[in-house]
Formats: sequence, structure tokens, C-alpha cells
Amino acid sequence: MVTLSVNGKTFDLDVESDTPLLWALRENVGLTGTKYGCGIAQCGACTVHIDGAAVRSCSVQVGDAIGKQITTIEGLADNGVLHRVQKAWIDHDAPQCGYCQSGMIMAVAALLTEKPQPTDSDIDAAITNICRCGTFKQVREAIHAAAKA
Ligand code: FES
Ligand code: FES
Repeated sequence: MVTLSVNGKTFDLDVESDTPLLWALRENVGLTGTKYGCGIAQCGACTVHIDGAAVRSCSVQVGDAIGKQITTIEGLADNGVLHRVQKAWIDHDAPQCGYCQSGMIMAVAALLTEKPQPTDSDIDAAITNICRCGTFKQVREAIHAAAKA
């Protein structure tokens, strides 16, 4: 049994401590907004926050998340008020199929906490998430808009 804190709630999960966090979130907690893409920390579709930092949850074991605050895309809005990154995503039509976008948004939210006014180079260095739909131009515009919000 593993106890995790996710989006401000506590969950007792019947999983092994080496279970990938992504699986525990999707299969045991039931939060399916976090997506599986590659499973090897390359695509970023599975990005969540642990204690505010962006991590690729396919490559984090639940045992390493015990006692930490996990935030998923479902927990990013504050009492129904969208996060500024979510608002910018809507304003700039960033999503296409949407599959990669929750991970992209979580990565960007963490970036803006670290670097409130990122340059294009900062964005290229930090946001290495892969989008098969090629939304990178809209994503960049939305990041700059969110930084100004
Ligand atoms: S599924 Fe985790 S980085 Fe691709
Ligand atoms: S919006 Fe389709 S994969 Fe990124």
C-alpha cells in the first residue's frame, strides 16, 4: 500500500512502490488527463508536477513521490478558475488533437514559475515535449501570452 497526495487529496493505493507514477495516477487514482506517449521520458505527454517541479511521470516510481505534493492537469485550475496557461492555450488555439497538451501545459506552468518571462531560447530549452500535430508555433505564442497575463 502506498499513500500519495494528489491535487490536495490523499489516496491509499494498492500498488508496488516501483509502479510508475503515471500508471498509479491513471489506473488507481482515475485521473486520465495525464497521458501515456512513449514510456521512456522522451515525449512529455505524462508531465505532472511534484512539489511544483515538472516531472515525466512514466519514469518516476510511486515510492519516490510519497510525502510530496503531486499536481496533475486536473488540479491545475484553482477552484474552477483556469490557470493562466490554460487560458492562453484557449485564446491561442494551441491544441489540435489535444493528446500531448496536458503534459505540455504542465511543463509550461512549471517553466513560468521558474522563469516568469522566458525567452524563445528558454522555451526551446525547457519545453522539449513532443507534439505530433506540430502545435509548436501556437504553443510558443501562448507561452508568451501567459507570461504577460
Ligand atoms: S510517456 Fe512519459 S515522457 Fe513519454
Ligand atoms: S496536439 Fe496532437 S499531439 Fe499535440
